[in-house]
Amino acid sequence: MAAEQGKLRSADWFGREDKGGFIHRSWMKRGLPEHEFDGRPVIGICNTWSELTPCNIHFRDLAEAVKRGVYEAGGLPVEFPVTSLGEPIMRPTTMLFRNLASMDVEECIRANPVDGVVLLTGCDKTTPACLMGAASVDLPTIVVPGGPMLNGKYRGGDIGSGTDVWKFSEDFRAGKMTREEFGLAEDGMTRSDGHCMTMGTASTMACMVEALGMTLPGGAAVPAPDSRRKVLAHLAGSRIVEMVREDLKMSTILGRAAFENAIKVNAAIGGSTNCVVHLLALAGRVGVELSLDDFDRLGSELPLLVNLMPAGKYLMEDFYYAGGLPVVIQELKDVLHLDALTATSKSLGENVEGAVCYNRDVIVPLDAPLIEAAGLAVLWGNLCADGAIIKPSAASPELMQHRGRAVVFETIEDYHQRIDSPDLDVDESSVLVLQNVGPVGYPGMAEVGNMGLPKKLLEKGVRDMVRISDGRMSGTAYGTVVLHVAPEAAIGGSLALVRDGDMIELDVVGRRLHLDVSDEELARRRAAWQPPTPHDTRGYVSLYIDHVMQADKGVDFDFLVGKSSAVVTREAH
Ligand code: FES
Repeated sequence: MAAEQGKLRSADWFGREDKGGFIHRSWMKRGLPEHEFDGRPVIGICNTWSELTPCNIHFRDLAEAVKRGVYEAGGLPVEFPVTSLGEPIMRPTTMLFRNLASMDVEECIRANPVDGVVLLTGCDKTTPACLMGAASVDLPTIVVPGGPMLNGKYRGGDIGSGTDVWKFSEDFRAGKMTREEFGLAEDGMTRSDGHCMTMGTASTMACMVEALGMTLPGGAAVPAPDSRRKVLAHLAGSRIVEMVREDLKMSTILGRAAFENAIKVNAAIGGSTNCVVHLLALAGRVGVELSLDDFDRLGSELPLLVNLMPAGKYLMEDFYYAGGLPVVIQELKDVLHLDALTATSKSLGENVEGAVCYNRDVIVPLDAPLIEAAGLAVLWGNLCADGAIIKPSAASPELMQHRGRAVVFETIEDYHQRIDSPDLDVDESSVLVLQNVGPVGYPGMAEVGNMGLPKKLLEKGVRDMVRISDGRMSGTAYGTVVLHVAPEAAIGGSLALVRDGDMIELDVVGRRLHLDVSDEELARRRAAWQPPTPHDTRGYVSLYIDHVMQADKGVDFDFLVGKSSAVVTREAH
């Protein structure tokens, strides 16, 4: 171990024969014998456990499994907490805090004597926040996803988190579901540890982690309460010690090929639109050139192979039993970069060799896809000069080309106040437009883009309409929803200039989103436009508003873009 000691960051703390070495070892020992500080790799276990992040509530147990693996491989595990982000709880939106959490992760890793990192991630934003922060330090890193919940149950059938909530909510509002039934569904939705078990953002990001090569094969889908999740954590604990010895850094895995693989896999799994902002931000951190165009060019023509909600009918538990992501990767073998290096030190292709599909109703073969061209489409036009996105697999085919009259809501409060008014001048051909819910406008780019339909139209049986906003949409949601409009309304994007009654044209095939108002009239409106009052002029929110980039740039802070390093900074003593 002595030779290794000189190469490790932790030796700058524990490998010294002076006052500093005394202080570092003495305070850390607390029952650990001397030989734990003999130069073995120190593995930081970055834990997003919090009782306010219910999807990550089992992470203390998971960390213990990781520790067993680290010890077994001859490393020293040190668990540390970081900011956690509870999707169903935090206000105004967890996305406001993704960058803050990533900074916490980055600085905690860099400031401490760790040689390698295990990221415990689960609920939506905890995955990108940890990846982004760790990528900025660029040590050997592996992810242990927390795993999805077991299938939800209601009256003998399966129900999916998020996806069925939207349905139940609309049925309840339309008077088709009683309060008692609503409560029963609520009880059956969350039956175990784990994150949302639909192909929402958490499941998508877990699949992205696996497609990027940042976890062990099969790591995305094992349900949280399945004992094999702990086996995975144990093995990841052992593996990270080897990664340190191999000096297999995050940036070695996260090359352009890994991101292209992730984009393509996202299309085939019917993944969340949120992966766009998270992958763009992560690419920015590791210095990989990635643009909105890449999502359309690489993913839009790829087929949907996974029959999971919200695009299909099954859930993550079924996906795991069917073979999980390794089967999907095998199906896509002709379009993926199978030679991309992964955390196993093997290629993506080697990782999935021998993967077997056990249920062809859940994961269909490439020659019999559920949808032919299922990836995200990127729209351009005078309403979105820097782009907007739509998820065709979650949209209504008959609305993919649509011209309709705008019904504009200036804020989310304005929407809530008027959407159910009998006087709202709206019909099923209208286009609902929501302004000021973007990165600066909300602030934090909330998941309100899939705004519920007017009650009077729900009562008539209408279940989808074209909706446009500068916000995001939950990965569990569905509908003909145009999202991530950039530049956003709050900084003067054209979305801010739309007025009630304007005609809007959506042409997904032609990749066009057009506001049918003359250039002269738009110029007149732009000259009269006043920016909204800032939400805060102090603290983190003020920093966020001043530095957040637009959706087409991943909504990261401008000052966080670009590779950083694991440099050991000057001493405290
Ligand atoms: Fe945590 Fe859905 S609320 S993953």
